[in-house]
Amino acid sequence: EKGGYEWFMTKEIEEQPKAVADTLLGRLDQDGHLQLDEMRLTDDELREIDKIIVIACGTASYAGLVAKYAIEHWTRIPCEVELASEFRYRDPIIDRSTLVVAISQSGETMDTLMAIRYARQQRARVLSICNTNGSTIPRESDAVIYTHAGPEVAVASTKGFLSQVVACYLLGLYLAQAKGVKYGDEISSIIDELHQVPAGIQRMIDEGDQVRKLAAELVDRRSFLFLGRHVGFPVALEGALKLKELAYVHAEGFAAGELKHGPIALVEKGLPMFVVVPPRARDQLQEKILSNIQEVRARGAYTIVLVEDGDDSVVPFADVVIRLPKVPTLLQPLVATVPLQIFACELAELLGHDVDQPRNLAKSVTVE
Ligand code: F6R
Repeated sequence: EKGGYEWFMTKEIEEQPKAVADTLLGRLDQDGHLQLDEMRLTDDELREIDKIIVIACGTASYAGLVAKYAIEHWTRIPCEVELASEFRYRDPIIDRSTLVVAISQSGETMDTLMAIRYARQQRARVLSICNTNGSTIPRESDAVIYTHAGPEVAVASTKGFLSQVVACYLLGLYLAQAKGVKYGDEISSIIDELHQVPAGIQRMIDEGDQVRKLAAELVDRRSFLFLGRHVGFPVALEGALKLKELAYVHAEGFAAGELKHGPIALVEKGLPMFVVVPPRARDQLQEKILSNIQEVRARGAYTIVLVEDGDDSVVPFADVVIRLPKVPTLLQPLVATVPLQIFACELAELLGHDVDQPRNLAKSVTVE
């Protein structure tokens, strides 16, 4: 039930602190070792893994992009991310030492299911990250990490996405632990940092009026761009997808470094441009995104900048500043995505659209 909310989506956005906390719950034993109880692959089997391929569709594929940054950083195992609908058709190089990670909220997405069936035929090991107990994809996997987001009813994924991102971090840390690589030792401190994140998500929800007002101001715009670097890039893609599917406006997310390779031609006076700024700790990334913001601003873009507390470097070039709590770079998507979800939800509502059931879309896509 909607429990007093107008939309399931609003309710599900507000459930995100709990979805993240519940996905983290009980994963560390007394000795600070990470436990994933639905993991049916032994440490020996995991140590044989020399390549990871993440497959998913839509929003789940953006969780996969975040996973790539975290998993490669923590485990030093090469990790590719691919749309499930493309994977089977390109003759991928996979064998017994490949771990295929399928991410699916519903566990029923046909493209993802077909991709894991193909991967298993090629003898790859398959681990799925799923929110629906007993659904087809986890049933057909060698191992499962369940996200504990609770049922997601709105077609547009919100708490499903954040909990997928958390499960991807857990997988990365677990593999690091199994391999005994450098970051293995830091697992409990990263888990501690993850436990702080629900409070940060809650703050973004509490401060939602800022983006709701912004949506009212921009309600007549027909095009929006989203810019990000590093893990801010998948956040930009997710912000754009939410806006397309809910508000039916043109929205495009891209990697900030690609700006001058094409998208900057779209910039004209008044074009709203969301920019996700990486934490200040990432000096080099910061400097570059700062110049990207200046470039689009000089061409008249209306810049809406998401930046962590205390970082004022971008303020002179921002028409709107959305403050984010300070979190480690890799974890920033968990807080930065929230205002973009709220913005899309509000814009759709202002335009009179059905937020929970956007036109032409289904909650689970069971055809290829
Ligand atoms: C977007 C959205 C879709 C799903 C995609 C995969 O808001 O909900 O893009 O993420 O259809 O669905 P699952 O995760 O169920 O496989």
